[in-house]
Amino acid sequence: MTTEIDHKRLSQLLESEETLFCSRTPRSAEMFERSKDSLLAGVPMPWMTDWAGPYPVFVDSAEGARFRDIDGNDYIDFCLGDTGAMTGHSPPPTVSAIEGQADKGITLMLPSADSAAVGEDLKRRFGLPYWQFALTATDANRFALRLCRAITRRPKVLVYSWCYHGSVDETFAVTDKAGKTVSRPDNIGPPVDPAETTVAVEWNDLDALERALATEEIACVLAEPAMTNIGIILPDPGYHEALRELTRKYGTLLIIDETHTICAGPGGYTGEHGLEPDLLTIGKPLAAGVPAAAYGMSEQVAAMVTEYMDSLEVADVGGIGGTLSGNALSLAAMRATLENVLTEEAFRSMIARCERFEEGVNGVISENDLGWHAVRIGCRIEYKFRPDPPRNGSEAVAAEDRDLDRFMHLHALNRGVLMTPFHSMALMSPATTDEDVDRHTEAFGEAVRDLLG
Ligand SMILES: Cc1ncc(COP(=O)(O)O)c(C=O)c1O
Repeated sequence: MTTEIDHKRLSQLLESEETLFCSRTPRSAEMFERSKDSLLAGVPMPWMTDWAGPYPVFVDSAEGARFRDIDGNDYIDFCLGDTGAMTGHSPPPTVSAIEGQADKGITLMLPSADSAAVGEDLKRRFGLPYWQFALTATDANRFALRLCRAITRRPKVLVYSWCYHGSVDETFAVTDKAGKTVSRPDNIGPPVDPAETTVAVEWNDLDALERALATEEIACVLAEPAMTNIGIILPDPGYHEALRELTRKYGTLLIIDETHTICAGPGGYTGEHGLEPDLLTIGKPLAAGVPAAAYGMSEQVAAMVTEYMDSLEVADVGGIGGTLSGNALSLAAMRATLENVLTEEAFRSMIARCERFEEGVNGVISENDLGWHAVRIGCRIEYKFRPDPPRNGSEAVAAEDRDLDRFMHLHALNRGVLMTPFHSMALMSPATTDEDVDRHTEAFGEAVRDLLG
């Protein structure tokens, strides 16, 4: 079984893929140079420099599961705006709702008829009775954390080492080798040391979780139901049952962040696995990429929040807000997306495509006797360059091979396939076809053959 990669060969391959990339994308190169005059590092956001290749491709247009760059190259998109476009790019029902609403008022500081329809849909999907809106999943998480601290009157939150929940200050904490909570090494300008606000524990470590909860200073646990941002790491069997039992035992609230794990099904991982969170947060694909997010809460949490809010004189600038949150355009886009795009039928087809993707990847892995594996949650899949799945964030970080990731990405991109950056991850949309999936399998097989020589 092959587990070791020849890194000398890998860096030669990477170099030739970079040459090929530059020959295919001269207009993107020009646009990148021009952008450097007005944009820091030539890109709208710093992480856009992290794509494999010396610069990102600049996009001309996107539709369904595909996009075209400004050089006229066509790509099958398995990144899908890293989940914001999991609906497929510009799905027609959402586009017509946006067009309809744009003519009737974009933002009003007042509710519209769409707000109740969206609340009812979310209630049905996720089983939580009361909902509020934000513009990003980051904000939904920030608001949920604030509410939990307010109603439990406890100071700290618990997160998993190497989790990601958006740019939420409290979540940039990891555990060091001694199990102590410290700031993530890439935490930019934290307002306070995250150890003051947060306890980080390793995913799948129930003893560490119980030790932290037993202090009774933890207001809430904020968890993705399976980690997806340090690669996919599934929960051990029974982990969620124990997490729920322990949080209840120690009076800690449980927030489940479904922003990525909505890939599991129409009600996310929560719906598929019968989880019982106190609060649930979600953003990204809710409105097919129009900024929109939501957080829901149980009957009991809603009653505590109402009592807390009633005790305040005013609640307009209390740290939960955003003038544009719950705006009419986002709500119209959310309603159309939930009712017509992210349907049960769509999930059936997305998951079937992903199963085909998994079969294709596993076929290449076994044909070449590679010590790699694939892991899938519904319509999201990742392949990892090691035989066993990591059980927590630190194990996943230790196993990272950045050069190999970059090579696999760039190789795929040069063959018209875009994978989710930072990992070898792919997401299916309702518009993704069997042919798209097979194109990936072919390119993946070719990359493996190049690697093995
Ligand atoms: C699980 C999870 N929650 C929240 C977020 C934050 O989303 P946004 O950047 O849209 O605020 C992300 C972003 O990747 C995420 O993966």
